[in-house]
Amino acid sequence: MVSEKIEQLLNDQIQKELYSAYLYLSFEAYFTSRNLNGFANWFKIQAMEERDHARILINYLNLIGGRVKLQPIQAPEWDFNSIEEVLTKSLEHEQYVTRSIYTIADQAIEERDHKTSSFIKWFIDEQAEEEDTAEQNLSNIRLIGENDGKGIFMLDAEMGARVYTVPSPLATNE
Ligand SMILES: [Fe+2]
Ligand SMILES: [Fe+2]
Repeated sequence: MVSEKIEQLLNDQIQKELYSAYLYLSFEAYFTSRNLNGFANWFKIQAMEERDHARILINYLNLIGGRVKLQPIQAPEWDFNSIEEVLTKSLEHEQYVTRSIYTIADQAIEERDHKTSSFIKWFIDEQAEEEDTAEQNLSNIRLIGENDGKGIFMLDAEMGARVYTVPSPLATNE
């Protein structure tokens, strides 16, 4: 059994993860339009991971007998003025998602829902990593500056080397 409140929060979180995927697809498209294919690759993989996060929540909701109620996903921004603007928005978005995960963690504690407390821990750890990576990306671009062609070229190559791996066994369908 799952409480209505937790069920609602988990459904809201599924929406937020799918919106995150949508937002990162938008970042990917922006970088592709600027021929920054490494940055585009990085956000393409980021979007895939966000879709996996939604899948993990869907699997858990099914496991505990809750109902999955998919919600509308709003259109993300699609145009930006600089690399730094995108990377700043990426960090702010991850901070927002972390707060949302903490809300679920707080509610689980309040209800003494130990299953959900245990489940949500993976997301707490994941968000710590997500924020750390987003901060690193932002700090790299601030260090290089947007007018250093060579620096951007090298950073783009580094971002292009990222490969997709399934973030957790929890993301499988079984
Ligand atoms: Fe996520
Ligand atoms: Fe994320």
